[in-house]
Amino acid sequence: MATSEELHKRRVEAVARGVGSTIPAYVDRAGGGTITDVDGREWIDFAAGIAVTNVGNSAPRVVEAVRAQVERFTHTCFMVAPYESYVAVCEQLNAVTPGGFEKRSALFNSGAEAVENAVKIARHATGRPAVVVFEHAYHGRTNLTMALTAKNMPYKHRFGPFAGEVYRVPMSYPLRDGGLDGATAAARSIEMIEKQVGAENVAALLIEPIQGEGGFVVPAPGFLPALREWATAAGVVFVADEIQTGFCRTGDWFACAHEGVEPDLVTLAKGIAGGLPLAAVTGRAELMDAVHVGGLGGTYGGNPIACAAALAAMETMRELDLAAAARRIGAVMGERLGAIAARDRRVAEVRGRGAMLAVEIVVPGTLTPDPAATAAISAACHAAGLLTLTCGTYGNVLRFLPPLVISDDELARGLDILDAAFG
Ligand SMILES: Cc1ncc(COP(=O)(O)O)c(C=O)c1O
Repeated sequence: MATSEELHKRRVEAVARGVGSTIPAYVDRAGGGTITDVDGREWIDFAAGIAVTNVGNSAPRVVEAVRAQVERFTHTCFMVAPYESYVAVCEQLNAVTPGGFEKRSALFNSGAEAVENAVKIARHATGRPAVVVFEHAYHGRTNLTMALTAKNMPYKHRFGPFAGEVYRVPMSYPLRDGGLDGATAAARSIEMIEKQVGAENVAALLIEPIQGEGGFVVPAPGFLPALREWATAAGVVFVADEIQTGFCRTGDWFACAHEGVEPDLVTLAKGIAGGLPLAAVTGRAELMDAVHVGGLGGTYGGNPIACAAALAAMETMRELDLAAAARRIGAVMGERLGAIAARDRRVAEVRGRGAMLAVEIVVPGTLTPDPAATAAISAACHAAGLLTLTCGTYGNVLRFLPPLVISDDELARGLDILDAAFG
């Protein structure tokens, strides 16, 4: 087998430079809470492929379901010749997402595609053009979703012009907004929408209940409910982007549930299918069904192999109670991160929920972001065998997203490495 170094040389000659990788090691196998490269080096996995392998890599049920499906048929296109597993995934999504009302779902391939479709549905159903998004938001890399995403480098730089009718308002970011309470922060955003856009022009308000790429920003309690209330009164479709927070990651099936918020539409991807590409929009039947027949779809959306994997992944989440596992991981990790924060003044805040936790790194005694220190700590983790990711508008957030099936021992070893990396 080629070594990681050899593969890296080939990659440079074959793969476009614009596609980056966190570590220059090439995976041979992965499972539980570890990833092993072709040279036999092992990393404890605190990334889960960016919050995807919540059920673990090659989860037994997923493997079995995929194998069985591949043998039956691989693709007919649901828009041409439909099949049961697509319907079954939609039934399950309608049941597990927040909101006791009647729902429908449609399946797609990627998170960005789900977000694009949520906007299409909201615009079609309301007949309004505008979409409101938040500072630090991340919603994808397609043309519309680049417009919805806040951060320029690396996501938007020189890729414009972007789609129109997208309006950005302040996020509740307690560390950096002087600790505004949720209601006050929401009032500030709502005033901006009403003054600068006009509620009657807004099709959708799109928000990550906990921001992902933007820095694991957890809004102050009350922020999401106040926006939900305003959207209902204004006839605006409230869209929760649960692509990173979904499928047990935060200690509940979906992050909106922590504050009892029921979105009109939810965008889903990442953790949905144990690593196979699948995404969805789930929401109120009257909104979803407003679109004419043929208005939604795509060649691969709801591919039968991905649907089989999703059914198996959701069964695994229930069987292993991965929401409870995320809460346990969060408790263990939170305690260790709290201890690091208590001794290291570079840590401005430990935040997140369940198995979606992060630390924000600053110049001690200030709120000045320190992306260099963040990168150095992350690199020290990689060198010592722990795969961590960074994020944040200022590049100064270390985030932790282990698979929810990580063992206690792997979690403890990962946290020991992290602890040592802080020095
Ligand atoms: C909240 C959120 N929305 C949308 C996306 C885009 O998903 P994808 O990369 O599958 O297009 C992501 C990906 O990181 C995300 O975290």
